[in-house]
Amino acid sequence: MLKAAVIGVGSMGSNHVRVYRDMEQVELVAVADQAEATAARLGARFGVPYYADYRKMLDECQPDMVSLAVPTIHHLEVGMELIRRGVHVLVEKPITGTIQEGQELIDLAEKNGVVLAVGHIERFNPAVQELRRRLREGMAGRIYQLHAVRLSPYPARIRDVGVVIDLASHDIDLLRFLMNERITRLYGETLQSINSDREDALNGVLRFASGAIGVLDVNWITPKKIRTLTITGARGLFHCDLLSQELFFYENEFGPSQWDTLSVLRGVSEGNVLGIRINRQEPLAAEIADFVAAVQAGRAPTITGRDGLETLRLAHEFVRSGREQRLIQLDEAPAKSAG
Ligand SMILES: NC(=O)c1ccc[n+]([C@@H]2O[C@H](COP(=O)([O-])OP(=O)(O)OC[C@H]3O[C@@H](n4cnc5c(N)ncnc54)[C@H](O)[C@@H]3O)[C@@H](O)[C@H]2O)c1
Repeated sequence: MLKAAVIGVGSMGSNHVRVYRDMEQVELVAVADQAEATAARLGARFGVPYYADYRKMLDECQPDMVSLAVPTIHHLEVGMELIRRGVHVLVEKPITGTIQEGQELIDLAEKNGVVLAVGHIERFNPAVQELRRRLREGMAGRIYQLHAVRLSPYPARIRDVGVVIDLASHDIDLLRFLMNERITRLYGETLQSINSDREDALNGVLRFASGAIGVLDVNWITPKKIRTLTITGARGLFHCDLLSQELFFYENEFGPSQWDTLSVLRGVSEGNVLGIRINRQEPLAAEIADFVAAVQAGRAPTITGRDGLETLRLAHEFVRSGREQRLIQLDEAPAKSAG
């Protein structure tokens, strides 16, 4: 049986611990967190050995695979140590804070033949999977626009990166996953309102090679948590609530209307509305199952290090666009998703 451990058992890492604990094909051997009280609390709650020093944990427990959920600026340091020891890694998103760090992780993982998966969890949201399947089947026809909204209260614990790298990376990854197309240019307006060091809001626009437009509305400055995706196509509109895992399709009606006053309208009007049944599942459980399956089969995970790095690169371009107040052309960039 594969031996798994989790390093960094704060807000996100504690969920990884719970998921591993409930899996049959994996033995959760330890948790590690430099905050000893946090490690001890999680160890006691899930009945596993705990360590304040993750190197000691690696020496003594010899896990085959680790979920790495320390703050983003520490992904490189801990990730390199794991990969050097031949341990397979599921690193939380974003892959690292900088492009260079991400490249270092990828290079060493490839050299040492270990699985490096990146936790862009929204790809494993069953509503997103269903949406992607239907887009591929052509249900919406040609895609004109993808609009992602991700609004949140300010997370006091995240101090190492701004909202674009931390949160908008989810939506950049999602748009790449749904379109599987090169992004040719982007423009971002960023705000610094609560955070004095980094941006805490982004309004971004990007263009795909086919001409489709992506719109990102992402922030840490709202009291309500909203996560939606709206996709406008030639045949209608998809609306997906990522939190409740609900998916609706609003079909365009092209035929003549019975109601005379409507006949003065040009273009489309509302047709049938379809609520699409989703087999709800915890995205993190699906993400970790994919990581375990990749390790077992010696195959690439659904979201590879290279995929995570391309998303990070685009996130940094949005930050740059906001800072320099200009459009960024990405013509030479290989911005396709591997998924
Ligand atoms: N996939 C998602 O939806 C999602 C959600 C939240 C956070 N995250 C990601 O998870 C990571 C952690 O974020 P969080 O919100 O859980 O942060 P957090 O601050 O709640 O937890 C991080 C934990 O790591 C520990 N830690 C810090 N440095 C360490 C080190 N060198 N060795 C061992 N332990 C160390 C801290 O003591 C803390 O307990 C970030 O990369 C973040 O982007 C992903």
